[in-house]
Amino acid sequence: MKETTGTTQTVWMHGLDFPATTALNQDIKADICVVGAGISGLTTAYLLAKAGKSVVVLEAKAIGGGETGRTTAHLSNALDDRYQVLMKMHGEKQARLAAESHTYAIRKIEEIAKEENIDCDFERLNGYLFLQPSDKPDELDKELEAARLLGFDKLTMLKRTPVPTLSDGPCLCFPDQGIFHPLRYLAGLSRAILDNKGQIYTESHVASFEKDNLLHIVKTTAGFTVTANQLVVATNTPVNDWATIHTKQEPYRTYVVGVKILPDAIPNALYWDYSDPYHYIRLVKDDHPDHVSEGERTYNIMIVGGEDHKTGQEANEQERLDCLEEWVREKFPMAGDVVYRWSGQVMEPQDYLGFIGRNPGDDHVYIATGDSGHGMTHGTIAGVLITDLIMGRPNAWEKLYDPGRVTLKSAPEFLKANINVAAQFKDYVTPGEVSEAAEVAPGTGSIMRKGLSKVAVYCDLNGQRHEMSAVCPHMGCIVAWNQVENSWDCPCHGSRFDKHGEVLNGPAFKGLEKLA
Ligand SMILES: Cc1cc2nc3c(=O)[nH]c(=O)nc-3n(C[C@H](O)[C@H](O)[C@H](O)COP(=O)(O)OP(=O)(O)OC[C@H]3O[C@@H](n4cnc5c(N)ncnc54)[C@H](O)[C@@H]3O)c2cc1C
Ligand code: FES
Repeated sequence: MKETTGTTQTVWMHGLDFPATTALNQDIKADICVVGAGISGLTTAYLLAKAGKSVVVLEAKAIGGGETGRTTAHLSNALDDRYQVLMKMHGEKQARLAAESHTYAIRKIEEIAKEENIDCDFERLNGYLFLQPSDKPDELDKELEAARLLGFDKLTMLKRTPVPTLSDGPCLCFPDQGIFHPLRYLAGLSRAILDNKGQIYTESHVASFEKDNLLHIVKTTAGFTVTANQLVVATNTPVNDWATIHTKQEPYRTYVVGVKILPDAIPNALYWDYSDPYHYIRLVKDDHPDHVSEGERTYNIMIVGGEDHKTGQEANEQERLDCLEEWVREKFPMAGDVVYRWSGQVMEPQDYLGFIGRNPGDDHVYIATGDSGHGMTHGTIAGVLITDLIMGRPNAWEKLYDPGRVTLKSAPEFLKANINVAAQFKDYVTPGEVSEAAEVAPGTGSIMRKGLSKVAVYCDLNGQRHEMSAVCPHMGCIVAWNQVENSWDCPCHGSRFDKHGEVLNGPAFKGLEKLA
């Protein structure tokens, strides 16, 4: 799979059977235009098409080319910000609704996979939450108490984690969690959208949103338009919003290594530790011919994630992957060779709840963002909630996920995050990483000072240097080179650009200005 938001390949990106799609090459009309073909956009498009609406999906890259292709696809209602924290921030009633929405979403994915006959390896299994030695010993008790209060009747405390090398202490066992293959699921959703008269256009980057009275005109970089009554912006981070949402959530990079492991080496389950950032672990039945067998032996792949940091604010991304591999070796001495290494981006809302619903200030525009580490269920909640809003049906989660909400208790987090953003503007006065373009080695990028401005220099494998303005077109922060994904990442709100400066992720709409 080539058209993605990174250069690393994930365990999901081979042997796929997506329906054939093309770029938009004419002006068209629809009831609803959905921008973004990840799990949020496609679930919304699927449910709307099933409800009889005419739907057009516009995707800048390939289906699943965003974070849905970079996920680890745990389907879980054990929210990673923890229920004790969520209850303090939002109260018991709202925390209960949040738990119910994720439980519902796992069921909905199972139901859709069954109804549409999607071969996506959906499975139910247990999830185990355990402590690291550095965690406070009573954290699990507090989480058990909070979750039980919210209706987790079957949640139990076990004396020992099922993998002794991982932890020899107690753990919480969350039953009825899930796993699936996210890109095969998207392939199935796409087929069902097309079967229900929906349309999907790939390699169709949306470059502008305009309004003509009540109509929304969505224009691609190639100049073609979709005119629609309603607009759903499901681009992971909204590209239609300049500031409102981007001050309420923060972008983080997160890393994954995939190692070979013998099928019975550990019980098939989800595993998470309590630390911040936390580690997340699951097994995959990979069918890549190079990975499944070696002589007589057949392997599974264990994918382990963690080592998160704020986007654009880490000097050495490669080191994050190395640390993760080291952790895997320590905790799973039985693990074999590393066969996958990748990274991706998650959006962390400051009040621990995502933003799904009407875009503040516009009744017929809907957004879905702030997934945290639960974008599979969150994207499914988005599909259900946005469809209900468009169809005029009541939905109990409308207020909970309202993008326009103000959570006074999250004011300290809001302040901290926005001070961090303001601090990034120091980069205007710091020296460059190199003093001339010739110092940039082939296959890498560096920031260079040129008079008063900062320049992003990429040297291709033939030794040719490409110079771009290092100023992010969103709000003007200075981008940084990401050596794992060969991209330019903005430390302020998470916009990302490929090595030549073309936009990969919003909120920026356009690429870095080319200089030479
Ligand atoms: C390493 C990693 C592990 C994770 N693990 C889990 C997990 O175990 N469980 C879980 O629930 N979640 C997990 N997540 C989170 C989850 O993967 C994401 O939150 C989720 O995939 C986001 O889905 P989405 O549809 O909102 O966005 P995306 O999948 O990113 O889709 C958005 C789409 O919009 C397109 N787009 C962007 N801009 C434009 C434009 N201008 N015009 C047209 N199209 C555009 C993009 O190309 C992209 O395809 C993980 C994330 C990462 C990175
Ligand atoms: S993403 Fe906001 S300034 Fe770059």
